[in-house]
Amino acid sequence: MLDDITAFDLLHVPADYAADPYPYLARLRETAPVHRNPDGTYVLTRYDDLVQVYRDPKLWSSDKTIDFAPKFGPGSPLYEHHTTSVVFTDPPDHTRIRALFQHAFTRKALNDLKPRIESLVDTALDRFEDEGRMEVVEDFSFRLPIEVVCDMLGVPTADRGLIRDWAVAILTALEPKLTQEQLDTGNRAVTDFKQYLRDLLAHRRAHPETAQPGEVLTVLADAEADGERLTEIELLHQCIFMLNAGHETSTNMISHGIHEMLRNPDQIARLNAEPELIDPMVEEVLRYQAPIQINNRRATADTRIGDTDLPAGSIVHMIVAAANRDPAQFPDPDRFDIARRPNRHLSFALGIHICAGNNLARVEAVIAFGKLFRRFPKLELLAPAKIAPRLRFREVLELNVATGA
Ligand code: HEM
Repeated sequence: MLDDITAFDLLHVPADYAADPYPYLARLRETAPVHRNPDGTYVLTRYDDLVQVYRDPKLWSSDKTIDFAPKFGPGSPLYEHHTTSVVFTDPPDHTRIRALFQHAFTRKALNDLKPRIESLVDTALDRFEDEGRMEVVEDFSFRLPIEVVCDMLGVPTADRGLIRDWAVAILTALEPKLTQEQLDTGNRAVTDFKQYLRDLLAHRRAHPETAQPGEVLTVLADAEADGERLTEIELLHQCIFMLNAGHETSTNMISHGIHEMLRNPDQIARLNAEPELIDPMVEEVLRYQAPIQINNRRATADTRIGDTDLPAGSIVHMIVAAANRDPAQFPDPDRFDIARRPNRHLSFALGIHICAGNNLARVEAVIAFGKLFRRFPKLELLAPAKIAPRLRFREVLELNVATGA
């Protein structure tokens, strides 16, 4: 526990922070909502302050070429990846690259994916019924999003195990503080992932008949081939980014959702009595346990947030997990309420970088939760979930459940 919250340091959080960050975040929001971290960065916890930053991408840059140089070392594979992927670019590069993703997320593309999502969920639940128990992460919440995003991109089924380890290694490198081993593993993962994609692209170009209709890999490869819309390095890093962004977060959304429902069994009964609550339930899961708890921006000019002046170059840590429980926006914010409306959480961010896959993630959640709780209304929690000690990505490591009587 930390007696003086103004001594809070995001790089050295108290030992019990990862298990339950919310009491710390509430105290920060009340006492020091624009908190100056000991390293000179700022920690933002108020909903309105985050909205202000998201809405002004000219003042608040997402480009990480300055911030990540000391963290990863310029020229390192992690530096190359995290400064090239769409989420860490500003216009005009951002506008050019994001436009290439758009076709993958049209209403039609999403509708085309639904039968596949339903069949993946049904297969996992059939197995659960046969076995009577499951470890949710391994048997359910990890498989669904990775299969879907690999289908979208065009990654062959046999290679999907590889993607998971690379994704965890690359995303872990975004934690505020890193060990040398995490850095080495992350750098190796980027190098191996790039080589893997180069080989896959070479194979596609040699055998265009193996491409699935509309697959993102081919769309991006065509954009690279025309020499104007995408460079080869950009192409590889957008593929890596999409594969990572498209599963780690959704996996955690599904795991947390099951965990929170099981911790609040009255909410399972309510969902089964009022199935139309499935949409607000998904929003509440996203609000309550934001899969990405922190976003960052850098000020391009002197500015002011609340009554604090921030000089140009200031880095802000936007704590989505805190904004999502700001009582000024969400009455009784620590209550998990599947009927909460309105629920304008910030788990997909806002503004030009708003999550490109947010509708897909929502569809995955509606199908996964809807089928699970309908089919197993007596679902039982066998032990509390194990949560990873990571700050940016709120990851469930293990969650054991049984079908119930
Ligand atoms: C529950 C699941 C998900 C969550 C919580 C989530 C969260 C986010 C957030 C917070 C951002 C913006 C970060 C920032 O502004 O700094 C983002 C961007 C992005 N996400 Fe997601 N995401 C999820 C699922 C997905 C899926 C399934 C895909 C694709 C298959 C995806 C693709 C993207 C892309 C391409 C961007 C970059 C958008 C841009 O920079 O313009 N995400 N996501």
